[in-house]
Amino acid sequence: MNTVTVKPTQPAMRDIVTLQSHILQQQALHPDASGTFTWILSALSISAKMIAAQVRRARLEDVLGNAGEQNVQGEQQQKLDVIANEILLRTLGAREGVAIVASEENEEPVILREQNDGETRYCVLFDPLDGSSNLDICGSVGTIFSILRKDRRSTKAEDSLLQPGTRQVAAGYVLYGSSTVMLLTLGHGVDMFVLDPSIGAFVRVAEGLKIPVKNKCYSLNEGNRLTLPEGYQKYLHWAQSNGYSSRYVGAMVGDVHRIMLQGGVFMYPPTQKAPKGKLRLMYEANPMAFLVEQAGGKALAGPDQRILDVQPEGIHQRTCVVLGSSEEVDHVMAQVAG
Ligand code: AHG
Ligand code: MN
Ligand code: MN
Repeated sequence: MNTVTVKPTQPAMRDIVTLQSHILQQQALHPDASGTFTWILSALSISAKMIAAQVRRARLEDVLGNAGEQNVQGEQQQKLDVIANEILLRTLGAREGVAIVASEENEEPVILREQNDGETRYCVLFDPLDGSSNLDICGSVGTIFSILRKDRRSTKAEDSLLQPGTRQVAAGYVLYGSSTVMLLTLGHGVDMFVLDPSIGAFVRVAEGLKIPVKNKCYSLNEGNRLTLPEGYQKYLHWAQSNGYSSRYVGAMVGDVHRIMLQGGVFMYPPTQKAPKGKLRLMYEANPMAFLVEQAGGKALAGPDQRILDVQPEGIHQRTCVVLGSSEEVDHVMAQVAG
C-alpha cells in the first residue's frame, strides 16, 4: 500500500489555539478552579462576536444614530451603545459566576446574584462601545472590560466594585476594526486573538505581547492643547522639536491597540471641559492600564501616580491617563513634573 506524507505548506506552522481552548489551557493550570471564570470569559467572547456582527451591519440595518437618550455621563447614547450594552448584560446575566455588572451606560450597577453561598463570584465592568462617535464614519470602535472578584464578606455592591485596578483578575478589549481583535490579560502577560469570521472563533495569534519600549509618536486630542496644564503643553513643544509623529483615532481602543503593537504614548490629560480628565477609571483606564503594564509598559494618572493604585470613590469617576511605552511615558512625566 502506498503511503502519502503530508508536508506542512508553511515553513513554521503554529498550533491553532482558539480563545476557548486558550481559556481551558489556563484553567488547567489551576486544578482547584471551578470553571466559573471560564464561563464568564466565554460570555465576553460571545458578546464580542454579537457586537462585531452588529457593527459590520451598520447602514444595512437601522443601528446608527442617536438612541434619543443621554447616559449617566451626560453623553448622547448611540443606538449601538444601547445594543452593545444589552448584549453584554444578557450574555453575562446568564452566567452563574457573575454577581454584579457595571456599565458606563448604566447609572447604577446591576446586581444579578445577591446570595453569598461561599462560591467565588465576580463583578464585570465594561464600556460596551468605546469610541461610538466613530460609528457614523466607519471608523474603529471597541469594547473594554475588567473583572474583579466579588467581596464575599459584603453584600454592598460598592465594596466589591470600588477596588483599585491592582485587584483586577482579568481585563481586555475588543477592537472592531478592519478585523476584530481581542487582547486579554489574566494577570500573566497579554495574548492576542483575531476573530476568524469563516469559523466564528477567536484564534490566538500572539502570546506574551510586549510594547516596544520607545517610539517617537504621541496620541492625544490636540484640539485641547491650549487648555491643557502647562506641563503637557511643554511636552508637546518638546516632542514636536524632537521629530515626533502624531496619531489619533479618537477611540481609546484604537489608539491603545496601535501603541500595544507599535509603541508610543497615549494621553488624555485634564482639560478645561474635563478638569479631572475625560476617561473613566473603572471602564477605560484600569483595564487598559492592566493590559499595558502586563505588556511591559507604563500607565500613570500623574507624576508617580500609577493608575492601578488609584483608590476609586465612585464607579463613574474620571481620571487623567498617560500610558504606553515606558520611555515615552517617562518623557511626558519629565515635562509635567519639571
Ligand atoms: P466613549 O465612546 O465610550 O464615550 O469613549 C470615548 C472616549 C475614548 O474612546 C476616546 O479616547 C475619547 O473619548 C475621545 O475623546 P475626544 O473626542 O474628546 O478626543
Ligand atoms: Mn469609551
Ligand atoms: Mn462607550
